[in-house]
Amino acid sequence: MSVSHATTSGKVTDSDLSLFRLLDPDVLADPYPLYHRLRCEDPVHWDSFLHSWVVTRYDDIVRVLRDFSAQRTPTSERLTTMGLSALNPIANVMVKQMLFLDPPAHTRIRSLASAAFTPQRVEALRSHIRDIVRNLLSKLKPNGRMDVIADLAEPLPGIVTAEMLGVPVDDHRQLKLWSQDFAEMLGNFQHNPDHMPQILKTTEEMTAYFRSAMRKENLRPDGLVSSLMNADVNGDRLTEEEVIANSIMTMIGGQETTTNLIGSGTLSLLRNPDQLEKLRANLSLIPSAVEELLRYESPIQHTARLTPEDTELGGKQIRKRQAVIAVMAAANRDPEHFPDPDRLDITREDNRHVAFGYGSHFCFGAPLARIEGQIALEEMVCQFSSCSLEPGRLVWRTNLSLRGLTSLRINFTSAAAGNEGQNHSEEGVTLHEYAQD
Ligand code: HEM
Repeated sequence: MSVSHATTSGKVTDSDLSLFRLLDPDVLADPYPLYHRLRCEDPVHWDSFLHSWVVTRYDDIVRVLRDFSAQRTPTSERLTTMGLSALNPIANVMVKQMLFLDPPAHTRIRSLASAAFTPQRVEALRSHIRDIVRNLLSKLKPNGRMDVIADLAEPLPGIVTAEMLGVPVDDHRQLKLWSQDFAEMLGNFQHNPDHMPQILKTTEEMTAYFRSAMRKENLRPDGLVSSLMNADVNGDRLTEEEVIANSIMTMIGGQETTTNLIGSGTLSLLRNPDQLEKLRANLSLIPSAVEELLRYESPIQHTARLTPEDTELGGKQIRKRQAVIAVMAAANRDPEHFPDPDRLDITREDNRHVAFGYGSHFCFGAPLARIEGQIALEEMVCQFSSCSLEPGRLVWRTNLSLRGLTSLRINFTSAAAGNEGQNHSEEGVTLHEYAQD
């Protein structure tokens, strides 16, 4: 869609502040001036291109995420009225996913899923994650070049997701392709009829995959799919369709986002060498660096809600069931909450960013995502004594909700030979089966 920009009279038009401007590669490369303008000029903005309210102030976003309705999947009647009945198979899956439900349905699914995704399970994945990262990095030529996205940021969450779900690790490339496809649909504002057959095919294949996985003997009993099948809270169990829908949700939620945390996080550090050096000098800053990188380049830029009833927000009257887009990436640069918000500061204190959302839908996989981000960064910092961006234009994905690079080429120098040969887990198990090409 083409969007006209400022008028000759200099008057601000609707299109000046529309999130559709993210389709312009220059705006996509640096969306923060647009978010700052929105927050300063019209923090609760009616975007006539999107037929939605766009909210950019931290406090308003917290209210939207806490109080507004997440139940936004269109019913089959609505899809038919919109001439989109072909999308019904997708809506049938989404309507059972926790992300698109309000209490009590949301509370029920989330508690059953939490019973299946315990802190012990996340901890058990921790040592594997270090093995996977080391194994991926060991495939690189010493003192060479790498594409951080293709060589690390994509395969790592794919392998971890297969492990977490308890399906065969060899399936990780297939899981990645499906999740990329589904994320494409979720992350773009406009329904793209050309892409619909592919999304429908993907939905059918993912559903069939998890239905068959549930019956297979090689499904790991400690994986999330088995645990969802067996989860029981006071006699309440998930149906087969709910297990499938939420396995798909977790598979997608865990991949694109973590890829972007590692990719954009590495870029931010390379663009701020003083911060990279600070980190190299003091590795105990890794957890706080990951939080700052999540704030600074949030992998999920925005999400949506519907107003449960007529309501007032930031001085604007919002009618019942109108769509509201909460731009978390703008909240995370709100100077009211983050002093000098455009500065990357890996020692930032009181960093209560909303990159993982807020309230009852707060990211279910945040502990796992944090561990993956921390280990990936730590290993890169330890294994590369220096690294730099390769010259060339960076290309950001045109998925408007999920912010990430298509590729990130760097040159690096390996650290002293002392680091080599450490391709073993903290438990002493070598995991060469991971990430085979
Ligand atoms: C850096 C990585 C990640 C980021 C930035 C991220 C971000 C988010 C955000 C912002 C939400 C809330 C969306 C909303 O309120 O509309 C969310 C929800 C969710 N995330 Fe993540 N996520 C990440 C990794 C993961 C991982 C690794 C998993 C899987 C283990 C996961 C699974 C989920 C699920 C299932 C939900 C829905 C929770 C609910 O509705 O109650 N995410 N995530």
